[in-house]
Amino acid sequence: MPLRNTPDTYGSVHKALHWLIALAVIGLATVGLIMDDMPNSPDKIKIYALHKSFGLTVLALVLLRLVWRWTNPRPVLPATMKPWEHKLAGFVHFGLYAMLLAMPLSGWLFNSAANFPLKWFGLFSVPPLAGPDRDLKEIAKALHYWGFWLLAGLFTLHVVGALKHHFVDRDDVLKRMLPGKRAASTPLPLETPLPEPAPIAVPAPEPIPENRP
Ligand code: HEM
Repeated sequence: MPLRNTPDTYGSVHKALHWLIALAVIGLATVGLIMDDMPNSPDKIKIYALHKSFGLTVLALVLLRLVWRWTNPRPVLPATMKPWEHKLAGFVHFGLYAMLLAMPLSGWLFNSAANFPLKWFGLFSVPPLAGPDRDLKEIAKALHYWGFWLLAGLFTLHVVGALKHHFVDRDDVLKRMLPGKRAASTPLPLETPLPEPAPIAVPAPEPIPENRP
């Protein structure tokens, strides 16, 4: 498997970043929704600290993924896709990247405005994004909460799209993102000329006999 992307499949770096980020976000969202309702205890503090550290790691991975995406070729989408499908895929991908940046940034902002400590896996302190601020804390908290539901909606569209490619359209779009697999065939180029239709032979009309008296 190549390290870099090629015009017909993703390379190992892109695939590793894709699945690492997906797993981390599912874990972060699950823990994020549960930890708020936990009774106060040293375990709760540890879980919050882990949520923040993994969240900051996702921010770094998403930035790395964007750099990788901009410096690598992008595999072409199948020519069989309709223009509205191209537009929807572009919108969902843009939204996913935006929310994958917005989630950790709003969490970090909330943590800063609430004046909570922030240490990456207990190794080093991460500077606050803002000073203590009650209003900003509420805004950042709402962004983090509603941002999650927006991310969940985009994520659902993304998964439904990938499954449609695989089971309905039966193309290589999902296969080329799976670990260790290569796309089975190169997608058709966008402009595939259709074959010319065979000319239809039209028989010459019968001569009309002259009606003589
Ligand atoms: C992709 C990254 C992240 C995802 C998907 C995520 C997801 C979530 C979710 C779903 C919640 C529950 C929302 C709620 O009930 O209000 C939550 C809560 C929280 N998150 Fe994150 N998070 C991420 C990154 C971060 C980061 C980087 C930080 C801090 C540096 C952070 C700090 C917090 C805090 C403090 C809460 C609790 C909010 C409260 O007390 O109500 N999160 N997160």
